[in-house]
Amino acid sequence: MRLAVLGGSFNPVHIGHLFLAGELLHDQGYDRVLLVPAYESPFKLEANIGSSSRDRLDMLFASITGDERLSVEDCEIRREGISYTIDTLRDIIQRYQPEGKPGLVIGDDLAEGFLSWKDASGILDLAEIVIARRNGTEAKSQPFPCRQLENEIMDISSRLVRERIRAGAAWEYLVPAGARIIIEDRSLYMEASESPASGNLEISKDFLVRVEEEARRRLSPGRFLHSRNTALLARDLAERWGQDTAAAWLAGMSHDICKSMREEELLELARKDGMAISAFEEKKASLLHGRAAAVFLRERFGIEREDVLEAIRVHTAGEPGMGPLARILYIADKIEVGREKIDPALRKLVLEKSLAEVFPAVLEQTVSWLRARHIDLLKETLDLLKSAREGMEHEEKQG
Ligand SMILES: [Fe+2]
Ligand SMILES: [Fe+2]
Repeated sequence: MRLAVLGGSFNPVHIGHLFLAGELLHDQGYDRVLLVPAYESPFKLEANIGSSSRDRLDMLFASITGDERLSVEDCEIRREGISYTIDTLRDIIQRYQPEGKPGLVIGDDLAEGFLSWKDASGILDLAEIVIARRNGTEAKSQPFPCRQLENEIMDISSRLVRERIRAGAAWEYLVPAGARIIIEDRSLYMEASESPASGNLEISKDFLVRVEEEARRRLSPGRFLHSRNTALLARDLAERWGQDTAAAWLAGMSHDICKSMREEELLELARKDGMAISAFEEKKASLLHGRAAAVFLRERFGIEREDVLEAIRVHTAGEPGMGPLARILYIADKIEVGREKIDPALRKLVLEKSLAEVFPAVLEQTVSWLRARHIDLLKETLDLLKSAREGMEHEEKQG
């Protein structure tokens, strides 16, 4: 029996998953495809957004009935903790005794980082890596043995299904009928409060380590050091001011992760967030490194927390109405220990005062620094400055 292993969050399973399983059976000659839902993915935070692992399993079982070439394998959910592929492969090979190496199917979005997976060489010993296309870009050659599938790309994702359900848009036929019934019966994904934007979805230490590795790989040593300093200060400030410390660290570590990209890459990423790009930004694409990073982190690491993404997106210029995490990142980025010529009084203020007092002070200093260098302020910064000054006035009058 030739076996293919198709892992993922399956939150929820959708027709793109089953279509790919069909291609593996039909076009690639596998006899059986194991669908393996992760308990907690080392790459993505999305496993339990809006549903439980029980829900995800039930939806999978309900979706494959009647096709005995497909099986749901629940070993990762039974094991709990972070779901590492190496452990899953060992377990599956022992129990299923497949003919030859099983095919381990991974999306091309994850392939680039494969060599940093836990025990990647062990995985290569046990399985044949099969890379499935998820985006329309050209297949890249990989620095490890693998097979590239010429699968059809279906522009559908679990996130799309969740977002459509939440938004009240049509979603019913994006998922297999069995999963649809469970989603409706249990009212899954319908509550905005279940999204990690407001929920306190825990960010695992392992996930943070992975993001740090990615930042180290992508950035110059100096820029990496700045990111690390920003992460440490942001975490510290979050603790002082009662915010999520792991989210602050994550935002600090990754806010400049696209800083070394070429201008075309920055523009391509930034365009994906659907917001307008001004002529000025078009000319000076480096200004888009925050927006690009937010898209990159969502696509590459499945980060969906709106507070984290907002903080990263607006960290350069700021924006009126930015949330507490975004203000913390803004402060940390501007005054981390490696930044020179910071007014010592400002650093002291950070230690003693509240977020509401510190943020306008850091903003004012940043603005005067930019003005002294004759750097044009972006419209967002001017709006932010205006609203911050008005806010101060308002507080003074009230006080
Ligand atoms: Fe930056
Ligand atoms: Fe920065």
